[in-house]
Amino acid sequence: MGEMLTVVRHPLARVHLTALRDEHSEAEQFRHHLLQLTRIMAYLVFNQLHVQTVSVTTPLGESAQGAVLARPPVLVPVLRAGLGMVEGLIDLVPGAVVSHLGLYRDEKTLTPKPYYKNFPESARLWPFFILDPMLATGGSAIEAIDYLRSEGAEEIVLVSIISAVSGIERVFLHHPSVPIFTCAVDEKLNERGYILPGLGDAGDRQFGTGL
Ligand code: PRP
Ligand code: URA
Repeated sequence: MGEMLTVVRHPLARVHLTALRDEHSEAEQFRHHLLQLTRIMAYLVFNQLHVQTVSVTTPLGESAQGAVLARPPVLVPVLRAGLGMVEGLIDLVPGAVVSHLGLYRDEKTLTPKPYYKNFPESARLWPFFILDPMLATGGSAIEAIDYLRSEGAEEIVLVSIISAVSGIERVFLHHPSVPIFTCAVDEKLNERGYILPGLGDAGDRQFGTGL
């Protein structure tokens, strides 16, 4: 896996991740901790963005060299669970675009089923960041990357919160050039494809639908 996998181990990331895993965290708390965790990840995730040099004039009449983004990123939240990762990243980035992608896992076969796509054609050469808290079998991530590639996206990064070892390996097998950022690598999946120890169903926990 090497340098293509970055595990964010900041102490505050670990604190917020622990709250996400805790079965006692209700939807409101879950959304709060997901937002904070994504904010912490943002600095690392966007570390490789390209900038162009510009200069501005300060109130002292001096010119100072600075930077603007060469190409702002496109955030691709995978519905539903990826929605809670948008705000923590978009706040930091002038000009970022959000391109939603609807996928759900068939409960029996665990294969991803696309139901909504919205690709910004004119942003093809911008860097794309797929947002999905759970990387389990890897099927959804591979489907998302395949789709973006088929539309002409070149630079793609996958941002997850918890990733299973088998999911990471499968994504790298299909797409070795796509870096993965995550906050935890969990060992295994249960017979229903849930990550163990994981955090449960990220969509249900975020939106309170796991009643
Ligand atoms: C979850 C999760 C991922 C997918 C991960 O979505 O958000 O998209 O499962 O599993 P995989 O790696 O095995 O493909 P889910 O189908 O539960 O949809 P939801 O977010 O709408 O609840
Ligand atoms: N999707 C989830 O929401 N949780 C898992 O553990 C696996 C897939």
